[in-house]
Amino acid sequence: MRKKIVVANWKMNKTVHEAVSFANEINKYQDFRCDVALCAPFVALSELRNVLDKRFHVGAQNIYFEEAGAYTGEISATMIKKFCRFVIVGHSERRQIFKEDDQVVNKKAKIALKHGITPIVCIGETLQERESGKTSEVVQRQILESLKDIDVTQIIMAYEPVWAIGTGRNATPEQAEEIHALIRRLIGSEKTRILYGGSVKPENAKGLMQQKNIDGALVGGASLDVKSFIGICQNA
Ligand code: 13P
Repeated sequence: MRKKIVVANWKMNKTVHEAVSFANEINKYQDFRCDVALCAPFVALSELRNVLDKRFHVGAQNIYFEEAGAYTGEISATMIKKFCRFVIVGHSERRQIFKEDDQVVNKKAKIALKHGITPIVCIGETLQERESGKTSEVVQRQILESLKDIDVTQIIMAYEPVWAIGTGRNATPEQAEEIHALIRRLIGSEKTRILYGGSVKPENAKGLMQQKNIDGALVGGASLDVKSFIGICQNA
């Protein structure tokens, strides 16, 4: 049985002070049956790890794939591993805005694993790709290339259809399950957790997470408010 996990992706939101207030609030809750992780901006990681109850995990939203050196502005796995259990790699915003391709995602996942950080590897099709019937093809290519030479039992996968991110239009549980089942077949692992992301809210979390191959959620907008995030965790 795969234990569910709900992961907050705060994106470029929350100051250190706000991250600490969130942690103080969520620390009061005892009754989650799922794993919970908060992926915070780099500057908040250290303080968040100090304040957040040890039952909850901390994660980063990105890392660079080199060990160290002249890479102005970048953050290495060595720098974050003291605070982070997880790191998100290949989020569609990194792919689209920062032009990261599957090869870069693959290198980032590998450096994370090398340093004992579990990568949450994101994949998903755009609206145009879905409407032109290319969803399976895109997902297959992203898996093949971003997971090249990676032990899939050591990672978490996240299916985030780009058209569902920040739009309020989530994939239906059936739409999501269809792709999750495809991902599971392609990676060939019953152990690997596969998260759904894209407009997850307390109201739709249960229906999504009841699906056989949906092992949790990667939550953007609804993770910024502690009450709605807790609502999702309670539905997991
Ligand atoms: P929303 O939950 O805001 O749609 O964002 C999803 C996401 O990108 C999580 O990584």
